[in-house]
Amino acid sequence: MKDLCTVILAAGQGTRMRSKLPKVVHPVAGLPMIAYVIEACRPLLAKRTVVITGHQADTVREALAGEAIEFVCQPQQHGTAHALLQAREALTGFDGDLLVVSGDTPLLTAQTLNGLLQAHRESHALATVLTAELPDPTGYGRVVRSATGGLLRIVEELEATPQERQIREINAGVYCFAAHALFEALQAIRPSAVKGELYLPDAIALLRDCDGGVQALPALDPDEIRGVNTRAELAEIHRLLWRKVAARLLAEGVTILDPERACIGPLVRIGSDSILYPNVTLEGQTVIGGGTTIYSGCRIRNSTIGSDTVLLDGCIIQESQIGDGCQVGPYAHLRPLARLQRHAKVGNFVEIKKSVVGEGSKVPHLSYIGDTTIGDRVNVGAGTITCNYDGFAKHQTVIENDVFVGSDVILVAPVSVGRGAIIAAGSTITENVPPDALAFGRARQVNKSGSAGAFRSKHRKG
Ligand code: UD1
Ligand code: MG
Repeated sequence: MKDLCTVILAAGQGTRMRSKLPKVVHPVAGLPMIAYVIEACRPLLAKRTVVITGHQADTVREALAGEAIEFVCQPQQHGTAHALLQAREALTGFDGDLLVVSGDTPLLTAQTLNGLLQAHRESHALATVLTAELPDPTGYGRVVRSATGGLLRIVEELEATPQERQIREINAGVYCFAAHALFEALQAIRPSAVKGELYLPDAIALLRDCDGGVQALPALDPDEIRGVNTRAELAEIHRLLWRKVAARLLAEGVTILDPERACIGPLVRIGSDSILYPNVTLEGQTVIGGGTTIYSGCRIRNSTIGSDTVLLDGCIIQESQIGDGCQVGPYAHLRPLARLQRHAKVGNFVEIKKSVVGEGSKVPHLSYIGDTTIGDRVNVGAGTITCNYDGFAKHQTVIENDVFVGSDVILVAPVSVGRGAIIAAGSTITENVPPDALAFGRARQVNKSGSAGAFRSKHRKG
């Protein structure tokens, strides 16, 4: 079997997106569009993966940091064939199969790519192109076949005749080539009549009459090959992607009350008997246990949520961990590295950052907890704030097991509260509280009997 090398075209600006951001890094369900293409190619185990960058090359590289990828630059973008020609030098001596994909087709699956590669290898063709029948082929290159059905050439929409525009079989922009034949053909491509660009699909007509020939392979799922060239297509891709994920989760035993309003990324895993109310957004590597209920308006990113937990409406949870049987929200904000242990409760308008809330502990109302370790069975009263920042550095707060913190307490870090202590409501705590102590950190109240009347008459006269 010949070696495989993958080339991903990602140098274009994406003019039709009308964006400062290069098209292939536009987020799709929280990940850059091109990351999906890399993911789909991964199981094919190509010897090498080359990404062609050009427009804002650094931004594209950063989006793919950590991947085993070679980058080749196309400083000026003169079309898809010109882009691929830039890889010629890097691929000197490579004589295997070349899989060429665009960075703007995020719904492609490994299965489809593998099918294309196998068909290519079995046929010994010089080029195998993936095609699809679309109800509306607008914007795509059309596949022109002979009367007997053989592949003749691909014509871009701008250059197609009115009859050719009626063709509904389109070029998916995914190809397998015999490397040695491809680069010969690329040299022979001439600039297109309308745009003056070098079109990669023109290689098909050039290779057609060479020994080995060319073939087209229709994709089993036409939705998979959709490219993103406009914001409208980006929206359409999201709709397709979210639908697909929702369908998978429904089949896996998750209740999604309105699958058309479930924005769930493809890497998300959810256990059975969990319930999702409408308008929940789940992104990145998020894992949710079974029997958990997530109410409307929650957005969760790269987080782990346990089983039998309830997330009430409007919570934002990022890079955090929530244990089993917890209750969170409504309107709680868990910032990176918040960790709630089993049966913890975090209530409305509470912000937690880089902190642990121990088993069975409660922070029920209007609090900020940052750089804090809270032990088990702790009650934190309404309005309690940890002052973790002095304008220069962040400091730690430690609250040990079984502590009761009254309402509206200010804990000025670094500070610790010993096991079983009680802090009076309204206290400002600047010194460590020993275990089992009762701490007051507030001025003593003064009641002046009968003075209210005198106060009122003074002010009325005034
Ligand atoms: C391309 C195909 C079209 C096919 C469609 C499928 C060409 C000429 N047309 O059209 O037949 O139906 O894909 O989605 O190939 N790029 C570069 N350098 C360039 C130009 C483009 O790297 O000079 C990259 C882009 O970043 C993009 C990819 O190539 O990732 C495809 O370019 P795009 O402009 O999106 O081509 P389409 O018009 O979609
Ligand atoms: Mg495109």
